Amino acid sequence: MNKQVIALALGLMFGAAQAGEVEVLHWWTAGGEAKAAQGLKASLQAKGHSWKDFAVAGGGGDSAMTVLKSRVVSGNAPAAAQIKGPSIQEWAREGLLANMDAVAKAENWDGVLPKVVSDVMKYQGQYVAAPVNVHRVNWLWANAEVLKKAGVKPPSSWDEFFTAAEALKKAGVIPLAHGGQNWQDFTTFESVALGVGGADFYKKALVQLDAAAINSATMDKVLETFRRVKAYTDKNAPGRDWNLATAMVIKGEAGMQLMGDWAKGEFIAAGKAPGKDFVCVAAPGTAKAFTFNVDSFALFKLKKADAQAAQRDFASAVMSPAFQELFNLNKGSIPVRTDLKMDKFDDCARLSNQDFLATAKAGSLVPSIAHGMAVPSAAEGAIKDVVSQFWNNDTMTVAQAKQRIAAAAKTQ
Ligand code: BGC
Repeated sequence: MNKQVIALALGLMFGAAQAGEVEVLHWWTAGGEAKAAQGLKASLQAKGHSWKDFAVAGGGGDSAMTVLKSRVVSGNAPAAAQIKGPSIQEWAREGLLANMDAVAKAENWDGVLPKVVSDVMKYQGQYVAAPVNVHRVNWLWANAEVLKKAGVKPPSSWDEFFTAAEALKKAGVIPLAHGGQNWQDFTTFESVALGVGGADFYKKALVQLDAAAINSATMDKVLETFRRVKAYTDKNAPGRDWNLATAMVIKGEAGMQLMGDWAKGEFIAAGKAPGKDFVCVAAPGTAKAFTFNVDSFALFKLKKADAQAAQRDFASAVMSPAFQELFNLNKGSIPVRTDLKMDKFDDCARLSNQDFLATAKAGSLVPSIAHGMAVPSAAEGAIKDVVSQFWNNDTMTVAQAKQRIAAAAKTQ
């Protein structure tokens, strides 16, 4: 056999030389998100494959998950889908996900990923998903000039938050930009729970779903504080998309937003500079804690060899250092690989990186419930519904809300 034939044979065996198509389900359609997704497409195309876009708009991904389910039921799964946290295990248990160990071993994923992340990417010890980033959810974003005009500093406690919100209201701006969709309501709720109750309470009540913690006096305080926050949002909040809420802060129509750091992607895409035009601080009372949200792609089992090869190249591209840097600069998150330098990243990302490591050591690194990192999907959905009902219905008492959260936590 001559060299060319050997190379071709090896190529066919490992699929390296075959071009294939990778269909990718995601919900990255806002400004910063779309820029980040574009980078992923380019990395895949650089490996000679084609990208089939399967974007389903809708922040938080609820619509994307509904569409994914119907596609899988009809036997037509995409090659990769943005699926996170315990849901990865749920899909793997159905026998639908492909084993990525060949790529993961060759590229030493175990050595470069935090264990808290690699555990979630594996099913029965084998990689079935590839992670992209770490988003911090417990952030508060603010328009620097608007705060200055109102004479307030970015709040570091809930008391300071309410003082700042009052001052902003007097200054004639909407204190808090909010989008009334249930994942956004819960994004606010979990930051309030972390700030008011602390990381241990958060873990007991919202991760372990411990009935005593859910029924505690601390939960009363959390719910009361959460309700007080609503008074500082505007009447057009219901149904508003998160990126439109961020745009209100960017334009100075609103002072602050409680949102994960995909919001930073919007500020950056609008040409705004951190520390100058906008500020990022941990959500009130949560500076020593970190709610993590890891975006990852689950890889579905495929039949054709060329498609499988392209899928492996996609997984490899997702984990490559160059891609992780570029993607996260646009997305607002930080790389999930622990071996990358943060030189090119801004102060918000550096703070996130520093706090991710510090809170992991201190035990106050907690998974985001709003973003599917902690609770099986059925219970997560039911709890989110109750929290949104409480937010929207002023006649629901704190006692009723607690009782309903406890009941929702048992949903299977
Ligand atoms: C995802 C982010 C996304 C955000 C808003 C979160 O659940 O993890 O990647 O930017 O939703 O759509």
